[in-house]
Amino acid sequence: MTSRTLPDFPWDSLTDHAATARAHPGGVVDLSVGTPVDPVPEIVQRALASVAEVPGYPTVHGTPALRDAVVAALTRRFGTPDCDPAAVMPTIGSKELVAWLPTLLGIGPGDVVAIPALAYPTYEVGATLAGATTVRLEDGEAPPPGTRLVWLNSPSNPTGRVLDADALAKAVAAARAVGAVVASDECYLALPWTGEPASVLRDDVSGGDLTGLLAVHSLSKSSSLAGYRAAFVAGDGRIVGDLVQTRKHAGMIVPRPVQAAMIAALDDDEHVAVQRERYRARRDVLLPALTGAGFRVDHSEAGLYLWATRGEDAWDTVAWLAARGILAAPGTFYGPTGGRHVRIALTATDERIAAAVERLAG
Ligand SMILES: Cc1ncc(COP(=O)(O)O)c(C=O)c1O
Repeated sequence: MTSRTLPDFPWDSLTDHAATARAHPGGVVDLSVGTPVDPVPEIVQRALASVAEVPGYPTVHGTPALRDAVVAALTRRFGTPDCDPAAVMPTIGSKELVAWLPTLLGIGPGDVVAIPALAYPTYEVGATLAGATTVRLEDGEAPPPGTRLVWLNSPSNPTGRVLDADALAKAVAAARAVGAVVASDECYLALPWTGEPASVLRDDVSGGDLTGLLAVHSLSKSSSLAGYRAAFVAGDGRIVGDLVQTRKHAGMIVPRPVQAAMIAALDDDEHVAVQRERYRARRDVLLPALTGAGFRVDHSEAGLYLWATRGEDAWDTVAWLAARGILAAPGTFYGPTGGRHVRIALTATDERIAAAVERLAG
């Protein structure tokens, strides 16, 4: 396996449009990536520093206090039943887990990994790293026989589409029917706008049985901790236990200060609400500015992105926006059916979002 086996990194192809957007007299408004811009909460910064003097190795499984904090936060924030703390494991951001989960589950050549038709690119990267075959499924489409892993992602990146508890339960049943593990990427679950996203761990989705189910969570967006690489997985205790064993051999360990920071972030819902309202305010001005400029915004019921179209080829829309100093990602980054949409992130400062709104009006 070398990087040659993998697709080109999608964002590299935006270079020319980025140069155009940067040349705008008012500066670029970069809405092409979902990187947080708001400050890391003080309580989290203090918790990070609080264990700076601890010299020993951290554990792959995470401190008991961290796993307890995850269980409590999942229950409080998302209405999941208390899961077994042993069935929780921190990860070094969720991207590494997404990229390595198929390999860590022993999935390989001849196996199928099912991902959403329009999806975060790393699901396919993970299947490719494992040598497995990727199939893309429309919402509601059943995975084919031979599928070992089904990725769900509600709220979706890039579309902001939400699968409610009923739709998720049906997807779980379809995966179970072919014996596949379900990994539900729930990194945008704390950012609902008009939809009602649910965790796969909820009883009305799992049927009260977490066998074969994993919920993948990240603190990158909900707590603005992308720089800390702070995430976790929870669900089927047998699978999580197996992941812990393999990751011990591979040294895939969340640093101790980050584990402490995660506890502080998980124990406090206030900063999550504050961050949510920041994104809501940005969405509230950007969405009407886009529709006013002739865009149609599809889905975008939750999460950090507006899935927008001008009814033309995505690259033409990227160019149209770049001429106004706004950088967006073409829908083709996320799958072949994204060719007429662009993904516009809400992750810019209020000042930059206001600049985008002004330019869209002009
Ligand atoms: C759907 C989805 N999953 C996972 C990630 C990875 O996030 P992180 O590695 O910061 O936890 C992202 C990042 O944008 C994402 O959009």
